[in-house]
Amino acid sequence: MHRSGDNKVGSYRKITSVSNPLVKDVRALHQKKFRDAGKQFLAEGQKLVRDAIEAGWAIRTLIYGAQSVDDPAIGALAARTKASGGMVLEVTRQILEKISRRDNPQSVLGVFEQRLGKLSDVGRDGLWVALDRVRDPGNLGTILRTCDATGVQGVVLVGETCDPFSVEAVRATMGSLFHVPLVRAGESAFLGQAGLAPARLLGTHLDASIDYRDADYAQPLILLMGNEQQGLTAALAAACDQTLRIPMTGRADSLNLAVSTGLMIYEALRRQLPRADDA
Ligand SMILES: C[S@@+](CC[C@H](N)C(=O)[O-])C[C@H]1O[C@@H](n2cnc3c(N)ncnc32)[C@H](O)[C@@H]1O
Repeated sequence: MHRSGDNKVGSYRKITSVSNPLVKDVRALHQKKFRDAGKQFLAEGQKLVRDAIEAGWAIRTLIYGAQSVDDPAIGALAARTKASGGMVLEVTRQILEKISRRDNPQSVLGVFEQRLGKLSDVGRDGLWVALDRVRDPGNLGTILRTCDATGVQGVVLVGETCDPFSVEAVRATMGSLFHVPLVRAGESAFLGQAGLAPARLLGTHLDASIDYRDADYAQPLILLMGNEQQGLTAALAAACDQTLRIPMTGRADSLNLAVSTGLMIYEALRRQLPRADDA
């Protein structure tokens, strides 16, 4: 049991009414304008919440269903939330459904502070991935997960992109959002930084004439991937040191963005990633 009443650091409350304003505030985080206003976002499920806390992301509110009150794992999350000054809310299943907008809600949710990295770090060392106007939260989540798995330094979201802090994107990252530095930049700010950074800029383009297997992937390096519908803007393509093409022999017009990003990352890190048979 982890009810401890008011605490000097964080606080605990039990809520049973769906019209409680705290419920409304959390539910509002499904909308970008409210996420942006409070620089917060919602992570659903015990694994995501634990990943975020363990990676040092600041939790403002932990919400769990009353049925989990005696679960020691939830008790540990509640203790860490209160120790860091956050609020713990014990709620009914009906409230969980309302907050998560699902009939079959997760029993734990967390409200976290958004965190973004600095543009001046982009391209300083290692391998970076830049995404031009990525639209699909599923693609973004898959790419962040691949970058996490391969030790990519960070991901730059260039121009108008989908929100990496939407519930869908956070879910699609499977926790990798908490491990990969994420930077946002307008196109000209990104190009300004790419021009100053020591990294080379390798773009991917359906009209490129260089095969991606023949490129020089010496680091520091930024791999630049285009928008799902339109590919790279002309300005971004022109700024690349080289543009590369992944061969296709069938009838598909192009590869999926997340798939082509995965192929590019693995090619760029081919000699760096440990082999399965390494000791
Ligand atoms: C779905 S594709 C964009 C298709 C878009 N109609 C176009 O004309 O570029 C999204 C991004 O994935 C990458 N991509 C997909 N297939 C590729 C290929 N065969 N070679 C190189 N890049 C590719 C590029 O970065 C591209 O901008």
